[in-house]
Amino acid sequence: MIKISPSILSADFSQLGQEARKMQQAGAPWLHIDVMDGHFVPNISFGAPVMKCIRKDFDGIFDVHLMISEPLRYAKDFAKAGADIITVHLEATEDPRAVIELIKKCGVKAGMSIKPKTPVSAIVPYLNDLDLVLIMSVEPGFGGQSFIEGSTEKVAELKREIDRCGSQAVIEIDGGITLDNAAEVYAAGCEVLVAGSTVFASPDPEATIHKLLNV
Ligand code: DX5
Ligand code: ZN
Repeated sequence: MIKISPSILSADFSQLGQEARKMQQAGAPWLHIDVMDGHFVPNISFGAPVMKCIRKDFDGIFDVHLMISEPLRYAKDFAKAGADIITVHLEATEDPRAVIELIKKCGVKAGMSIKPKTPVSAIVPYLNDLDLVLIMSVEPGFGGQSFIEGSTEKVAELKREIDRCGSQAVIEIDGGITLDNAAEVYAAGCEVLVAGSTVFASPDPEATIHKLLNV
């Protein structure tokens, strides 16, 4: 089942609750929560207390993307603040298995992401322990960037590896998703598309989500 996860990073931060409700009304089943620490990525967004405040404004899945160093130190805070899925970066931790275990122990689904320059082979050893794998199709840190060519091939390679090892992980893609490239990533095996600027900049988010689902 294909889903759109609008990225709150493209919302008006002065009214996050209202923006989350807007996505709910537009029919988004997931909300993508981008957490940036100014260390793992060159930008700072917000932390668990802010996320907790908007939890009541969205009834669906809180899809939390931690672009932070030391995810082991902070994952529990995001679980407590209402995350349904916590995705950390493979590049941000020396002990991926420990982070996956901690997230699951908190009763939350575990995701892991790789940056554009990290090969799919790096995440293969963890596929059987993951609920989600996030392929970054831009360098993490900012919304509104252009989709990096070659990301669709990474999705296809990951899909082959997931099928080969019998993993249950779903594939999510994040960065530069538009009506022009959604079809190719679906076709390659991606089930969850993060869309920030495409959805939030739209005068009619509901219609845009519908279009993204029907490209
Ligand atoms: C980038 C974030 C993305 C971003 C996507 O580091 O992880 O979720 O908000 O924004 P768009 O869809 O505008 O590229
Ligand atoms: Zn993201």
